[in-house]
Amino acid sequence: MDIWLVDGNPAGAVPVTDRGLSYGDGLFETIAWRDNRPRFFDWHMERLAEGCRRLGFRCPAEKTLLSEMEAAAAGHADGTVKIIVTRGSGPRGYAAPRAPQPRRIVGYVRNTDAASSATGAGGITLRFCRTPISANPVLAGLKTLSRLDQVLARSEWQDPGIAEGLMQGPDGKVVCGTMSNVFLVKDRRLLTPDLTVCGVRGVMRRVVIETAQQLGIETAEVQLSRHDIMSAAELFVTNALIGLWPVAHCGRHAFEIGTVTTTLCRALQARGVTECAR
Ligand SMILES: Cc1ncc(COP(=O)(O)O)c(C=O)c1O
Repeated sequence: MDIWLVDGNPAGAVPVTDRGLSYGDGLFETIAWRDNRPRFFDWHMERLAEGCRRLGFRCPAEKTLLSEMEAAAAGHADGTVKIIVTRGSGPRGYAAPRAPQPRRIVGYVRNTDAASSATGAGGITLRFCRTPISANPVLAGLKTLSRLDQVLARSEWQDPGIAEGLMQGPDGKVVCGTMSNVFLVKDRRLLTPDLTVCGVRGVMRRVVIETAQQLGIETAEVQLSRHDIMSAAELFVTNALIGLWPVAHCGRHAFEIGTVTTTLCRALQARGVTECAR
């Protein structure tokens, strides 16, 4: 059974006046719950705190969120924990209350198929989405509740054989997957899109960059075109739940699951990202 706490109390609903519901005025974190603990919790908290700072409301205390996660996930060693923090309730209209009372929504959900390693083990199939991702440097990097770009992009396909879709910014540069960050290998360098104008600065993206640097793999955040993607030697996507999914196909084009990807998978496994099956 999925369990949700709203401001610490078991509940299945929030007030209709909540600004997260009205305007997407809030943030969220989706965290892998492994061995009775939230994986990479500090980095999820860093992004959440940075988001609250930029949106201009108080971030709930880390220890409050942690104890609510533990209460929601009680009795489950593994699964997914979600934290939603909104600016709280307010009167109609965009103007934010002067003294907002941020609302915490913390929930535990069982692992779903999307989080299973099976999908990524032999490499996934990817597509390009038509829906562009909106550019706004003020929100870039954050995991805000405003996710309509991704909702529309994900509604472009129903084929269960396609695991992810890549999204491009208004300038045509590739930014991310609908629910993931993207990396490619070119000339043995690991490249990932620069996220200064749009995209979510993923926790697993950070883990991968740090791990690659520890392994002596040169990494860079750059502008990437569709052509860069299609001509990559290796390609993979990441998020906090899936870990790393190598890409085997995009349309008719086949990608090799090469040594950089397999080396990174092994190193991630050693860091507890056990979804990386190779
Ligand atoms: C749009 C988008 N980009 C990137 C990510 C990856 O972020 P993380 O690694 O923190 O899960 C997600 C995760 O859901 C996402 O929805």
